[in-house]
Amino acid sequence: MNRDGNCKSLWQSHAPDYFAANGWDQGQIYDVLIVGGGITGMTTALLLQQAGMKCIIAEAQNIGFGTTGGTTAHLNTFMDTPYHNIAANFGKEPAQLVARGAKEAIAFIKEQVTKNKVQGFSERPGYIFSANDKEDEALEKLMAAANEVGALMQYTDALPVALPHTKVIVTESQAQFHPGKYLYALAENYEQAGGILLQHCRVGSVTYENESTFKAEANLGSILATKVIYATHIPPGVNLLHFRCAPYRSYAIACTLKSGNYPDAMIYDMQDPYHYYRTQETDGKTYFIAGGEDHKTGQEENTDACFRRLEAYVRTYFDVDEIAYQWSSQYFEPADGLPYIGRLPGSDDNIYVATGYGGNGMIYGTLSAIILTDIITKGKSVYKELFDPNRVKPIAGFSNFVKEGADVVKHLAGSIFSAEKLPSLLDLAPGEARIVTYEGHQLAIYKDEHHRLHMISPACTHIKCSVAWNSAEKTWDCPCHGSRFSYDGEMWTGPASRNLDRFNDDPV
Ligand code: FES
Repeated sequence: MNRDGNCKSLWQSHAPDYFAANGWDQGQIYDVLIVGGGITGMTTALLLQQAGMKCIIAEAQNIGFGTTGGTTAHLNTFMDTPYHNIAANFGKEPAQLVARGAKEAIAFIKEQVTKNKVQGFSERPGYIFSANDKEDEALEKLMAAANEVGALMQYTDALPVALPHTKVIVTESQAQFHPGKYLYALAENYEQAGGILLQHCRVGSVTYENESTFKAEANLGSILATKVIYATHIPPGVNLLHFRCAPYRSYAIACTLKSGNYPDAMIYDMQDPYHYYRTQETDGKTYFIAGGEDHKTGQEENTDACFRRLEAYVRTYFDVDEIAYQWSSQYFEPADGLPYIGRLPGSDDNIYVATGYGGNGMIYGTLSAIILTDIITKGKSVYKELFDPNRVKPIAGFSNFVKEGADVVKHLAGSIFSAEKLPSLLDLAPGEARIVTYEGHQLAIYKDEHHRLHMISPACTHIKCSVAWNSAEKTWDCPCHGSRFSYDGEMWTGPASRNLDRFNDDPV
C-alpha cells in the first residue's frame, strides 16, 4: 500500500494490493460513483452495495493512499471538539447526538472486525490527564460536558504511564484497530457483494450526461452514475467548504520499548497541540505509537524537526529501543467544530460530500458512511441536519472562519506579489528544496540525490496559493486547502486536479 508521502506508516507494510476492476462495464449506469477509497469511501460503498445499489469506487491511487493509511487509528467517544464547545455552538441535544454517533461508529467497526475476523482491533480504556492548574480546569470542564451527553468519564488515581500529571480521567469502551487490515477487509466484502473498485483511476470533470445521469471523466475512461459521492477528504474544484475547512498535519512514531512494558490503554495529555499514545500489536510484534506536534499544513518550515521534537519528548518519558516507523498525516479542521456530511454545497441533490473530520477521522469517516447511506436509501438520517454541509453557523464558526480565511488570503497574496532575492541555485544540498524568484518567475526547485534540479511552478493548481516544501515527506504541500504534490510536481492529493506546471520536463 502506497501513501501520499516519503515516510512509511505502520499500516503500509501489512496490506496486500491485489484488487482488480472486476466486471467494470463502461456502458453501465451505476447507482453511485464513490470518488476516493479511504475509510469513508470504502465503508459507504460497502453499505450502499449491501443495500442493493450498484456502486463503483474510483480511487486515484490505491486504497488507503491518503489519511486512512496514515491515521493512528484511535476510536474515541470524546471528540477533538470538546462536548462543551459543541453544546455551546449547536445545543445540548446535538452534542448528545455527536456522542451517540461516535458510539455507533465504534460499534459498526467492531461488528465488521468480528464478522470478518480482522486482526488488530481491541477495546481499551482511554485516559486523559492534566499537568497544571489551567489544564486541570479544562479537564474538569471536558469531563462534566462529556458526562452530560453520555460519553461517561470519571476521575481515577492511576495513569498507566509515568508521565507527569496532576489529574486523570478515564473513559471505558474506547477502541483501536489496524486501519490497513480493516480497509482491505471492507474492500473484499465490497467486491464479493458485486461492487466495482477501480484503483489508479483519477476522476476529473463530472458533468451531466442527461437529466438524471452524471458522466465522470477519468483516466481509465468515462463513468456514468446517477449519484456521486466525494470521499476525497476535501472535495475537488472550488467550493464553500474550502473556506470552512483548514488543513493540518499531525506526526506519529511507532517504536519498540526496551522494557517491553507497553501500556494497555489509550492516553492523551492536555497540551496544545496534545500528545496521544497507544500500543498496537501486529503480525507478532508490539509497537508503542505516539503522536503530536500538529501544525497547519505548509506553515512549518522544518517538518523533520517535528519528528525530532516528538521523538525527543517520547524518549524523555519512555525507554525507547528502536523507532520502527515515523509518518505524518493530514486532517481538516472544520470552522465550527463539526464535520460536513451530506449534499455538496452549490450542487444539486445527487452529489454528496463528507469532510472536516478534525482528528476523529476514523469515527467520522465511518459515521459519514452510515449517514450518507441512510440519506441515499431512505431519504433521511437522524444526523442529517446536524452535519449538513450547507448549514449556516456564523457565530459558532466565526473566529475560526476568519482566521482560516485570512490565511488563505495571505498565501494567495504571497504567491502573486512577493519576490525573494535570487539565491544561488547551486547551494541546495541533495534532498533540499526552495522557492526562488528567477527572471521574474517564481520557481519551486528540488535537488535530487543525483544533484539534478527539478523546477516547477509553486502556484498550486487549485486556486494558486503558493505551495511549501515538506522536508520530511519530500512533498510540496499547499497551506490553503491541503493539496499535495510530489517533489517534481505530480498531484498526489486534491482538491487540486492537475500537476504543478513544470519548467523543465527533464531534471537538469
Ligand atoms: Fe487550494 Fe492549493 S489546495 S490553492
